[in-house]
Amino acid sequence: MSNNKNQSYKTGGIVIIDFGSQYNQLIARRIRELGVYAEIVPYNTPIEDVLSTRPKGIILSGGPSSVNDKNAHLIDKKIYETKIPVLGICYGMQLTTHLLGGKVVQGKIGEYGRSEFYKETDHILLKNIPEKSTVWMSHYDEVTQLPQGFKKLGSTKICIAAIANDEKKIYATQFHPEVAHTEFGTQIIKNFVIDICKADKNWNLSGYIENEIKKIKEIVGNQKVILGLSGGVDSSVTAMLIHQAIGDQQTCIFVDTGLLRKNEVETVMKTYAENYQMNIKKVDASEEFINALKGVKEPEEKRKIIGKKFIEVFNREAAKISDVGFLAQGTIYPDIIESKSAKGGPSATIKSHHNVGGLPEKMHLKLLEPLKELFKDEVRKLGVELGIPKKMIMRHPFPGPGLGIRILGEISKEKIKILQEADAIFIDELYKNNLYDQVNQAFVVLLPVKSVGVMGDERTYEYTVVIRSVNTTDFMTATWSRLPYHFLDWVSTRIINEVKGINRVVYDISSKPPATIEWE
Ligand code: XMP
Repeated sequence: MSNNKNQSYKTGGIVIIDFGSQYNQLIARRIRELGVYAEIVPYNTPIEDVLSTRPKGIILSGGPSSVNDKNAHLIDKKIYETKIPVLGICYGMQLTTHLLGGKVVQGKIGEYGRSEFYKETDHILLKNIPEKSTVWMSHYDEVTQLPQGFKKLGSTKICIAAIANDEKKIYATQFHPEVAHTEFGTQIIKNFVIDICKADKNWNLSGYIENEIKKIKEIVGNQKVILGLSGGVDSSVTAMLIHQAIGDQQTCIFVDTGLLRKNEVETVMKTYAENYQMNIKKVDASEEFINALKGVKEPEEKRKIIGKKFIEVFNREAAKISDVGFLAQGTIYPDIIESKSAKGGPSATIKSHHNVGGLPEKMHLKLLEPLKELFKDEVRKLGVELGIPKKMIMRHPFPGPGLGIRILGEISKEKIKILQEADAIFIDELYKNNLYDQVNQAFVVLLPVKSVGVMGDERTYEYTVVIRSVNTTDFMTATWSRLPYHFLDWVSTRIINEVKGINRVVYDISSKPPATIEWE
């Protein structure tokens, strides 16, 4: 899909050379928040490719290795001779020092977490930074001798923490300015990107939409496109964007697995088919899914069956549409970066859960992935700009296997109905109490456990449900949400009174790790 004349937003930005730090995506996001395009490339990208978008600045990222290792990740020294400003961060500072003739040694002690940074001189990189501030550190090696032409700008009690060579426009920090715990990190990134690099502010989402619509029209021509619509943010925004470009040439296939939330099918159809007249083929495959899951209790087996069935149904429906040239997917930027690891070299592989099993090869389809340059928060903003209701865009993530992994043990129609009702009450109350946006994922889980209760004068023997709510930024780690007692009390009362089949509600107070967010 690359077409240089259509990619003006990509020029004049910042290239981040990736040495494997877990914080690299944050660097790109901070820069894009300044309205400047930033892209991440693996460390072994040829220098001509790094320079192909005519960047105004280059950032060398952090990374886990040591410059003194035999197999250290190095780069071509020519990068320092391009006259384009360079900022090294953490490993990037050590690498710069090492390649330009300074000295890096293993420190006596590592420096991890918060540290006090003392600014020692006024400098454009440290503009608007006080004499003393908090920075985020994560290193063992340290710079002990600067390369020729460099000066020290500041330090912590442990190491030299910021250096510069003004003549060559090379700068570096040992700390991570991209991490929120570095008090003035955003200011330092701004000082580099705007004041030093004078990068172009080409990055804005309305420009992106315009550009992508034009590109999709050119690429697709009069061929047809199919897309698997799940109702989730990525597939919905992809569908809307393509819809604006080529209208009914796109067919969205929406598979009702019978494992979706209460009213989900109606909500998705109303939002996209009715309001936006999107061409959506709804396929009711609920019976097929339930039948395939009969008697299955084991979580991994359930996942496999649901995944396989999904592909089977999708492929069957897709084959009914003639003359299809493209399969559209909601792949986003983090999916691409994660699969282009610093060690793995430059070739991108698409995450397996995004790929509709072998369909592209079998039907000779080309992939259309118009969101592949965007971060999740940018996808959300783009969705709102395309007119998708904010409530739909801000919904919590919902797993592909759906309620299939939230009904522990064997699945039945009766259990799906019970869970849908209980879950809808919990979510409804979160909205009503303005708590929905304060937690990152919330849902109900149905346990295969019945217990004794009493309702009126009657003894009951019914199911137990779990209320699960977590706060997280990346879903890799999470803490349980401290929801107010009176709120939990009310949710429990409503569920027990309104949902037949449940007589006990418990609240999950486990964090991840060691628990996971889902129960299966
Ligand atoms: P866990 O349970 O691993 O979940 O802490 C982390 C996040 O991933 C979601 N999740 C899935 N999403 N297919 C998906 O599309 C899956 O099989 C799947 N399993 C877990 C989960 O909802 C949470 O947001």
